[in-house]
Amino acid sequence: MGCDHAALELKRVIVARLEERGHEVVDLGTHDTSSVDYPSFAHQVARRVMFGGARGVLVCGTGIGMSIAANRHRGVRAALCHDVFSAKATREHNDANVLCLGARVVGRGLALAIVDAFDATEFEGGRHQRRIDLIEG
Ligand code: RB5
Repeated sequence: MGCDHAALELKRVIVARLEERGHEVVDLGTHDTSSVDYPSFAHQVARRVMFGGARGVLVCGTGIGMSIAANRHRGVRAALCHDVFSAKATREHNDANVLCLGARVVGRGLALAIVDAFDATEFEGGRHQRRIDLIEG
């Protein structure tokens, strides 16, 4: 789990939700509202996903900067989702391993519904695995 100053409150809410859902959450910060640079948090979470077999959640003001940065890492498939359908579909079809959200875009209720959908949905495999292999090159 990572965020910047724009998404601190939403991050706290998401951490609590993921713990309620039985996950062990590693909160890589940021931990206060001082202005920080979102790429460093995206890179830290991406490395955990690549080398730790974890899934990640990244939140910033829009979710866009976090997703751009996280997707620079080979093997990371970060999906920016602001609706439940996309969160479910990106797990089923893209085997997304990082969820990105914009705290200035979605309210708390929708954000948690997106987190729940992302967490609860399994990758479908089959033809979708072939397409993921093509992404990796
Ligand atoms: C911070 O002001 C903002 O730029 C950041 O949270 C994010 O939206 C970047 O993509």
